[in-house]
Amino acid sequence: MSRQCEALIDLDAIRANFKFACGLAAESQSIAVIKANAYGHGAVEVAHALTASAPAFAVAIIDEASALRDAGINAPLLVMEGVGSGYELQYAARQNIAIVIHSDEQLHLLERTKLPARVAVWVKIDTGMHRLGLAPERLQDAIKRLRASDNCDPSIVVCTHLACADHPDSLRTDQQLKVFDNCVAGLGVLQSISNSAGIMAFPRSHRHWNRPGYMLYGNTPFAGDVRQASDLMPVMTLQSEVIAVRDIAAADSVGYCGRWTAGSPATIATVAIGYADGYPRHAPNGTPILINGHIAPLVGTVSMDMITVDVTAVPGVKVGDPVVLWGKGLSVNEIAHAAGTIGYELLTSVTNRVPRRYLHQ
Ligand SMILES: Cc1ncc(COP(=O)(O)O)c(C=O)c1O
Repeated sequence: MSRQCEALIDLDAIRANFKFACGLAAESQSIAVIKANAYGHGAVEVAHALTASAPAFAVAIIDEASALRDAGINAPLLVMEGVGSGYELQYAARQNIAIVIHSDEQLHLLERTKLPARVAVWVKIDTGMHRLGLAPERLQDAIKRLRASDNCDPSIVVCTHLACADHPDSLRTDQQLKVFDNCVAGLGVLQSISNSAGIMAFPRSHRHWNRPGYMLYGNTPFAGDVRQASDLMPVMTLQSEVIAVRDIAAADSVGYCGRWTAGSPATIATVAIGYADGYPRHAPNGTPILINGHIAPLVGTVSMDMITVDVTAVPGVKVGDPVVLWGKGLSVNEIAHAAGTIGYELLTSVTNRVPRRYLHQ
């Protein structure tokens, strides 16, 4: 007997979210970020769904790009961490895959490797996040060398990544934008800065290319904002079903270590999903679960394959009833907030045991 635990992926929703992201920045082009298996949604399926609307796709590593090429995705791709060997660089050049150059090592690699074709380059500068990128004062020299190299396509993009755009009150985004603008002034290059939060909260960060990721999957990127953003439609609905229902007495405990004890007689529904499916083990008592259209609290420790829910206040819950863990009707941000993490982590943590079912392919 197979479980009814599945992740429903609404491809119409992702197309609408992409359109919404583009509409917020009409002067920019948007490269759809589909790294980490499209944030857990299935990179190949998402790429197919967006092929007609997205001019290009971004992934983190070359293996993700090659998986897309192997699956027949011919759209322009960008590898945001760039390449680490001559072999990878040659593959990128052969397969028309743009690369980020964020370090001197990568710049040297491009200069000294013999390539079958020019490769499109995005040069990343470190404007304050201090994770990846050339120091701003290195940019002029890097552009000069890239323009002199037969390996580099002439249409160079200069990019950076925002550290705090999901905190719109932080002054750090403005500081990063200043550093960026000073650095690219007069260079005659294309530019790229915005992630989802930049697109939504910092119009000044909109440039030739924006890089929306999380918002495409239907959720607001803003830290602490657990509401469903009204203009975005959740793409993944993680759902399962009730596999057992029992009544317990006051003072009975539920689950491993008896983490929750009933204060009065209660009805407990056991739901077929656990941390081996990607439901967060740290979700505390009280984390909302949607059963038969009602919110009910998680009670007891999350097990590998099951969770337990106090459905005392939900009328008539029975075996086979559908349960939504997050998605339509219950924002993944809300579950993440309860579990002390972010929606990005939850979406990318749904394991292969959970089949993805695609709607509106
Ligand atoms: C370099 C870069 N650009 C864009 C994105 C997309 O960010 P978001 O998912 O917040 O839109 C990411 C994601 O982490 C990233 O690393």
